[in-house]
Amino acid sequence: MADLIQQLRETTAFIQQHYPHTPEAGIVLGSGLGNFANEMEVEKEIPYANIPHFPVSTVEGHSGKLLFGKLNGRRVVAMAGRFHFYEGYTAEQVTYPIRTMKFLGIQHLLISNAAGGVNPNFRVGDLMLITDHISLAIINPLLGKNHGDLGPRFPDMSEPYSKALQQKVKNIADSLQVPLQQGVYFGVTGPTFETRAEYKMIHALGGDAVGMSTVQEVIVAIHMGLPVVAISIITDLGIREEDNVITHQEVLEAAAAAEPKLSAIFKQLVAAL
Ligand code: HPA
Repeated sequence: MADLIQQLRETTAFIQQHYPHTPEAGIVLGSGLGNFANEMEVEKEIPYANIPHFPVSTVEGHSGKLLFGKLNGRRVVAMAGRFHFYEGYTAEQVTYPIRTMKFLGIQHLLISNAAGGVNPNFRVGDLMLITDHISLAIINPLLGKNHGDLGPRFPDMSEPYSKALQQKVKNIADSLQVPLQQGVYFGVTGPTFETRAEYKMIHALGGDAVGMSTVQEVIVAIHMGLPVVAISIITDLGIREEDNVITHQEVLEAAAAAEPKLSAIFKQLVAAL
């Protein structure tokens, strides 16, 4: 297998042949957030399947793509669809697009996701600014040989979510009068939703929300010195005592319903970077 760095260079060269501009920010669109693309002035779309060294989708009907263009006057690249560990990709494959976007020149990474709320103050449809995360229950994408050209062997994780970017998001949410929760994202692999006991444990361990993405992406971003800001849409509540069946459908619907709030924040944020 070719060296990771060499692969990233080849991927970057391919993309730059098709889109010669440098995006300032990368945006990862979570489940149910497909409409966000309508906010962008898309100049170029590249399906993941066409990009050399991008993971090959094994899931039927799974169609992801990179969107290049302008958002509120700023050049961005957005991932419409992300790779999840539960789909069977390795941690390196899950995070390959994040590394690619850094190679393309992004200086900020904006992440969104759907997450289950375990903080009793949360309601479905809330936005949660991620202030920190707990990565114990995921596979760390930096396991194995360290790629010193990307970052250090033992990255500091004291500020995985940029405090400066968090402050900007809070100011923007205030000015838009969008209520914003804040809290700790607890990463899991999925694909099962959690048991009642697990949701309680996650809350007891310090989580406010739980989800199946994001943490591996953030780890590789921090490894490369790329500042991150991330917002969860709370799509279901894990700690209800009543019947608590959670379906993928309700997660998608709740994410889509809350999407305009998230889009409005990201739109202003890119202009304020
Ligand atoms: N648990 C894990 N991942 C999720 C959830 C959840 O309740 N909701 C959306 N993604």
